[in-house]
Amino acid sequence: MIISSAYDYREAARRKLPRFLFDYIDGGANAEHTMAANQADLASISLRQRVLRNVEGVSLETSLFGLRQAMPVILSPVGLTGMYARRGEVQAARAAAAKGVPYCLSTVSVCPIEEVASGSPQPIWFQLYVLKDRGFMRNALERAQAAGVTHLVFTVDMPTPGSRYRDAHSGMSGPYAAPRRLLQAATRPDWAIKVGLLGRPHDLGNISAYRGKPTKLEDYIGWLAQNFDPSISWHDLEWIRTFWKGPMIIKGILDPQDARDAVSFGADGIVVSNHGGRQLDGVRSTARALPAIADAVGSDLTVLADSGVRSGLDVVRMLALGARGVLLGRAPIYALAADGQRGVENVLDIFAKEMRVAMTLTGVTSIDQIDASVLA
Ligand code: FNR
Ligand code: LAC
Repeated sequence: MIISSAYDYREAARRKLPRFLFDYIDGGANAEHTMAANQADLASISLRQRVLRNVEGVSLETSLFGLRQAMPVILSPVGLTGMYARRGEVQAARAAAAKGVPYCLSTVSVCPIEEVASGSPQPIWFQLYVLKDRGFMRNALERAQAAGVTHLVFTVDMPTPGSRYRDAHSGMSGPYAAPRRLLQAATRPDWAIKVGLLGRPHDLGNISAYRGKPTKLEDYIGWLAQNFDPSISWHDLEWIRTFWKGPMIIKGILDPQDARDAVSFGADGIVVSNHGGRQLDGVRSTARALPAIADAVGSDLTVLADSGVRSGLDVVRMLALGARGVLLGRAPIYALAADGQRGVENVLDIFAKEMRVAMTLTGVTSIDQIDASVLA
């Protein structure tokens, strides 16, 4: 099929993946209202067209946490990426490196930290959840440090997993899940051979490494359900702040007061996020929540944002609303499922091209010029 956008990659991923995996990626919590609002509210943000302002030499380069990068995006942590493409985390990390942007590995990746770090031409970021098993957390942090991970992303919006209706229907969870997944895989022979067979082992690499025995997809759902810790508070994170010397970024902030608490805690950055609409349906879209948060803490730490970004235009909108950088969740994952590393590289090129058009037609030539003045 012809690919010209991240929307096309979504359709290509739908054709390529067994249903339970596509729906797991594509779906959100409950009736998916917040998930839909993430995209709809971004789309409703109007850009201000300006003309004849000499916009020769548009540059997408930017600096985040003191490091230069080719454009202001980061590949967001996505669980089970190695189920969507063969050793998917390594392919995605290589694509990010090729395009000069950071890759953030999820706690619940298929490939363990060491495999991704050694397969990536540049240092990676690592995302950690707050889990009941503090031994696991410490182990993962030590391994991340040993593997040369530079940035720690701490995801705090999952004290419990959201209700995902689609997962129950698709066979990701629910009755007769395993045979249903097998049947779905049989309808996708290309995936079944390249990923289902040749992409093994399909462990949760970081968890198997800690437990010292292999884990399976069944364990994933169970582990997610049992290991998240609703008792957590800022105080419980203090040992991590003392342990982790590099930049620490808190992901899953949607309220200005929580953003101020992140500043008091000593975070270097936050990700304004509703987890792509996968956690609490009914919360505000990121586009609506972001401006007040950026106003409250934008001069104290680095404000990043995600959820609903499907094009370079959306990246420019998030920057105009107050983010310094934007995490991409589903967009590169659809591309990875469709065409592996090459797909992720291509979707990043597509985003870059779309950003250049948006910047040219809003009359700005550098990323730091993008602010509320480009909004109409
Ligand atoms: C996620 N997300 C996520 N976040 C995180 O901190 N750790 C994780 O393991 C995962 N896993 C995960 C799996 C899948 C399939 C998706 C789609 C998302 C959330 C992700 O990092 C990001 O916040 C959202 O995906 C952003 O929204 P968009 O860009 O997908 O709309
Ligand atoms: C999810 C978890 C893994 O969104 O973060 O499915």
